[in-house]
Amino acid sequence: MAFTLPDLPYAYDALGPYMSKETLEYHHDKHHQAYVTNGNNLMKGTEFEGKPLEEVVRGSFGKNAALFNNAGQHFNHLHFWKWMKPNGGGKIPGALEKALVDGFGSVEKAKEDFIAAGTTQFGSGWGWLVVANGKVVASKTPNGENPLVHGGAPILGVDVWEHSYYIDYRNRRPDYLKAFVEHLVNWEYVAELYAAATK
Ligand SMILES: [Fe+2]
Repeated sequence: MAFTLPDLPYAYDALGPYMSKETLEYHHDKHHQAYVTNGNNLMKGTEFEGKPLEEVVRGSFGKNAALFNNAGQHFNHLHFWKWMKPNGGGKIPGALEKALVDGFGSVEKAKEDFIAAGTTQFGSGWGWLVVANGKVVASKTPNGENPLVHGGAPILGVDVWEHSYYIDYRNRRPDYLKAFVEHLVNWEYVAELYAAATK
């Protein structure tokens, strides 16, 4: 299947003041579009042409770095747009809340560890909440990598490439991560992925 760029699930100005229209225009229309275009060009004539995205991500890891970077980023960004919503943050659905308490001791600690993962990712990459061996844990990956290639199921990810926050937060990555957790996360979508990963 060729990669295609989906529309954002909300208006470009819907995540203000925590993520601006300008950031979303560049991030979605330019950066994500580039991963789609480059990924499609790099897949042409390879064994990956026509394969489902997750298979391309797993199969190209460690074998075809250029394709992996673009396919990984396509996967990450498809979810990233859905991991946010206007007036996000707030109440966490019950089953997911229980899993966070089981995994971290408290919801507050889960949020702290997630923010710490994103803050300490050196350079470009992603911070994650991942289901691994039935438990939710926090982790981080560089560049376009994601937990799929490390045996985990990503249920929440935050983009810590500068293109995701520099316009709105400049170098203040921790402030961006805090705002993401408190005001942007679509916990219903995280709960959906948690349910799928643990059924
Ligand atoms: Fe990004």
